[in-house]
This record gives sequence, structure tokens and C-alpha cells, in this order.
Amino acid sequence: MSRVSGEVVLPGDLARRVIDPHAYAAWDGLLDTFDHIRATMPVARVQPDTPGLFDPFWLVTRYDDVMRISKDNATFLNNPRPVVFSFNEAIEFSRAATGSNMLVDSLVVFDAPIHPKYRKLTQEWFIPRNLAKLEGELRALAARTVDRMLESGPDIDFVREVSGPYPLRVVMQILGVPPEDEPRMQMLTQQLFGGQDKDLSGSGLDKMTPEQVVQIVAGAVRTFEDYFAQIADERRAHPTDDVASVIANALVDGQPLPPRDMAGYYIIVATAGHDTTSASTAGAMQALANDPEQWARVKADRSLLPGIVEEAIRWTTPVQHFMRTAAEDVELGGSQVKAGDWLMINYVAANHDPAQFPDPRRFDAARSPNRHLAFGAGAHQCLGLHLARLEMRILFEALLDRVASVEPAGEAKRASSTFVGGLKTLPLRVTPA
Ligand code: HEM
Repeated sequence: MSRVSGEVVLPGDLARRVIDPHAYAAWDGLLDTFDHIRATMPVARVQPDTPGLFDPFWLVTRYDDVMRISKDNATFLNNPRPVVFSFNEAIEFSRAATGSNMLVDSLVVFDAPIHPKYRKLTQEWFIPRNLAKLEGELRALAARTVDRMLESGPDIDFVREVSGPYPLRVVMQILGVPPEDEPRMQMLTQQLFGGQDKDLSGSGLDKMTPEQVVQIVAGAVRTFEDYFAQIADERRAHPTDDVASVIANALVDGQPLPPRDMAGYYIIVATAGHDTTSASTAGAMQALANDPEQWARVKADRSLLPGIVEEAIRWTTPVQHFMRTAAEDVELGGSQVKAGDWLMINYVAANHDPAQFPDPRRFDAARSPNRHLAFGAGAHQCLGLHLARLEMRILFEALLDRVASVEPAGEAKRASSTFVGGLKTLPLRVTPA
């Protein structure tokens, strides 16, 4: 570690790991890195090896500091750059293409006073009382998914057969996308989020320059925009009780949403809602497959299920970071952050902070309290958190009903991605009940 005018600067090898997608594929090594950084330099400056590659930022790894930043939305702003994907070349390209730092303007980019107005539009739709109306459909979908899995068993890839398609169908259904368009939507999402992993993007994005990657991403965004414009037209003509209709017919200050903002709203729900829940679902199954006694316990006592769901969300932490920009000078963990400085709030590090979670790498379904930060906190806290929990609970009820036992059947692999991450394959052997 070195100090530059009072700043703790992260050594180059550690800094590279923090921004290298491949480091995120090796989970234990990544957690070791964050443990070391959190213990020795909890608020540290990350600088590029190559000047100009990205703007330096503060890496924040302690639970308490991440919580404080997340809740103080006046001091720590999402705009203009909420994710670290923003290499400088990428930002320049995005500005040229859209006039904005981000290719998509959406809830995660807005701050007050716009953010609360946009958030309010769908907040009510995502509360448990309203989501209860989806339960029947979710149960039917979960049953079909488990049937298909058992038909192709006993050896399956849980990600391909279950944890990938199930949350995708849920989110597409609430957005009015028919099943035949799903593969296209999935590909586009992976280009947006998983673009750093060659197996997920399927297009060699990992070998491209940031500018080339951003061109692919921009293409994906344009396709999304055109697609959802048609859905919005349809829902204005024939509204239903889905969230697509709420967005299509929404008014802010008495005016319909501008087309770019409307597309951004659909895109954030479409993209935020499935790879995330897929990752926590796969993680829950992995934890159960590795611990047959726990599988037997929850099979016999379903009241343990909510604890398993919550712990899986902490243990996997599918959204690995967000970024904030300081609106004013502020002291943080002994470091002096200046107005305009960029900060990475690292949810993986915060959710493995031993000061908050004893024995943090252990999957402990009885963990209490379990006030994890996987959904963030404050004004931007995940809009879909109740839906994610509901989806997972209903799927695991179907799995526990229909599967007698489950065991690992090969090596599970994680995606190479700094932003949304998790398992991309989970080979299992399942025995029907
Ligand atoms: C286990 C699954 C999920 C995880 C781990 C997760 C995680 C997150 C995180 C960390 C944030 C940012 C919070 C912050 O800045 O404080 C977020 C925001 C968001 N999530 Fe989720 N999410 C999940 C599922 C979903 C689902 C199912 C949906 C919708 C269908 C959804 C929609 C959103 C939206 C729209 C935002 C932006 C909220 C805002 O900026 O106001 N998420 N999510």
C-alpha cells in the first residue's frame, strides 16, 4: 500500500483484480482479496495502470461504510456513472451515441428529484400485496420447469434447465414479452450484463476493446428500445394489470414518459430481474446439493425455506457493486473523499464482512440477523426484492416436493463479470421423489 497526499492507494496487483472480470470467476480467491483489502485499507484509492483507462475511484469494502453510502442519497449520487463498466473510451462512445454518459437512462442513473417520481410509478406494483396475484402463475411455471428438469435428468445443468429460464420467463411475463421472443431477450441481456464472459455473450466480446464492447452493447440497447416501443403501443391501446401497462400509461408531472425513458424503464426491469435471481437461485441449489442434511431438513420443515432464500441471496450477492459520486467533501473510513470523487460500493465485500456476518463464507440458513446488502439500501434499494424472494420460494417448494435428493455432478463454474455475477453452470444429479 502507498500513500499519495494522505490517500491510501491500492497496490497495482490488487487494483487489477478489483476491475478484472476473470478475478470474479474464482470466488474464494476474490473473497480472499476483499478480506485483505477490507482489513488493511477499507477505503482505498483504485488507479488505472494505463493513464486514462478509467477514472480513479475509492473502493469501499466495509459493511458499515457501504450501508452509510447507500442510505445517504443526497451526498452519494448515482448520476452520472452508477457502474464501473464506464471505461473512459466507453463513456465517450456513449456520449456520441446518445448524448448521455450511459447508454440507458433508467432508475439506477437518476437521482432526486427525478428518481422518486419515476420510482413511485411502479413501487406499488412490486409490493407483496400486489404480487400475490402472480402466485398461481408462478406455481404453474415452477411445476413445468421442474417437470422438464426431471424429464431430462438424472444429470442436468441446473443453470441451463432451471435457474436460467425460470426467472427469465417471470420477468418477461410481467413485461408482456411472449415466450418465443425470450431467447432474443436473453441474448441481449447477456450482451448488456455478461458481456465480459465469452461463454455468456457467445460473441468473443472478452477479446474486444472497451469501445468494441460498447458498440455491441449499444446495438443491444437499440434493439431493446425498438422492441419495447411496440409493447408500449400495444399496452396503451389495450392495458392489462401487468407492469408493462403501468409503464406504458405512466404520467410524470402530467406528461407521458419520453420514449428514451420509457425504454429505459422496461430495460432496467428486464435486465435487473433475471440474471440476478438466476444467480441467487443457482447458489441456493448449490448450497443444498453440497449439504444433503440441510436438503432433508428443509424437505421436512418448509418453515426453513425463507431463511435459505435470504442466506442464498447474501451468500451469492449477484449484484457485485454499484458506483456513487460524492456531491460534497466527506470523510469516510479515515480517508478524505472530495466532491466529484467516484466510489465503488462493493456488495460482495460488505456481505462478507466478518464484523457483520460471523463466519461469512459459511452458508447458514439460520443466520439471524441477516441484514445483508445484496439488494442495496436507501432510495435505490432493489425494486424487485419481494418478487425475487417470492419466485425463489415458490420454485424451491416445487423442487422440494418433486426431488428426493440432489448431489453435485461436476464442476460448477462462475461467470467472468465484475457487475452481475454468479454461476453459469451447475452440474447436478437429481433423483425424483
Ligand atoms: C436476487 C435477485 C436480485 C438482486 C440480488 C438484486 C439486486 C439489486 C441491487 C443491488 C440494486 C441496486 C440497489 C442500490 O443501489 O441500493 C437493485 C436495483 C434494482 N432492481 Fe434488483 N435485484 C434482484 C432482483 C430484481 C428483480 C426480480 C427485479 C424486477 C423484476 C429487480 C429490479 C430492480 C430495479 C428496477 C432496480 C433499480 C432501483 C432503483 O434504482 O430505484 N431486481 N437490485
